[in-house]
Amino acid sequence: MSDTETPAPVMDPGPASAPIAAAPIAAEPEPAAAPLSLETLFLEARTHYAWRPDPVTDDEIHRLYALTRMGPTSANSSPGRFLFLRTPEAKERLRPALSAGNIAPTLAAPCTVIVAYDPRFFDKLPTLYPTTDARSWFANNDPLATATAFRNGTLQGAYLLMAARAIGLDCAPMSGFDNSKVDSEFLTWRGWKSNFLLNLGHGDPTELPPRPPRLDFDDACAIL
Ligand SMILES: Cc1cc2nc3c(=O)[nH]c(=O)nc-3n(C[C@H](O)[C@H](O)[C@H](O)COP(=O)(O)O)c2cc1C
Repeated sequence: MSDTETPAPVMDPGPASAPIAAAPIAAEPEPAAAPLSLETLFLEARTHYAWRPDPVTDDEIHRLYALTRMGPTSANSSPGRFLFLRTPEAKERLRPALSAGNIAPTLAAPCTVIVAYDPRFFDKLPTLYPTTDARSWFANNDPLATATAFRNGTLQGAYLLMAARAIGLDCAPMSGFDNSKVDSEFLTWRGWKSNFLLNLGHGDPTELPPRPPRLDFDDACAIL
């Protein structure tokens, strides 16, 4: 069974199959109006390689996760996990895993997120999807569990990136690093695996390279 073919949820499972009280989950209240526009999210947002020293605060990190977690995942699986590196010591631990071109921008960025995922995400499904035994769909199906963890963890990384832009931060995603080194240095003891890195902060627009082109509609899309 693919995760696009998951059975319809049982809407009235009764107390025996709903071990966790299903209180409504809402995003944490936004303390300030976000500077939200198509320009902020897409049209003027760029991938940054040079950073101003302004920090990424604890409050911003918590707001980022409060927004990210509200994005949809299949069966509400929520496999994305996020490790925020801000100290010079944490960055030094990351340095040996980085490809050469990513070292300077990453050490300069106020925050680097290891966007990771939990391959055992399904152990939380009795809480996250209590209306049916969703854990069993994945617990004995490694290919489905692996694809679901990576697909939805990647989506959550993209939600994080867009959430960061929405609250006024700049971003730089990176896949140029050694995943196994990052995993053994930071993640294995947590049971997580790395997907990609995301530098966060306030970019220096004077250091931006020219905007690379994008594919035209007919090169990337079809309407049937
Ligand atoms: C998943 C992913 C991985 C990337 N990896 C790297 C990287 O390792 N190093 C790098 O310099 N840029 C990396 N980039 C940045 C892309 O080259 C950049 O986002 C793209 O060219 C668009 O640039 P723009 O946002 O300024 O238009 C990556 C982007 C994504 C989405």
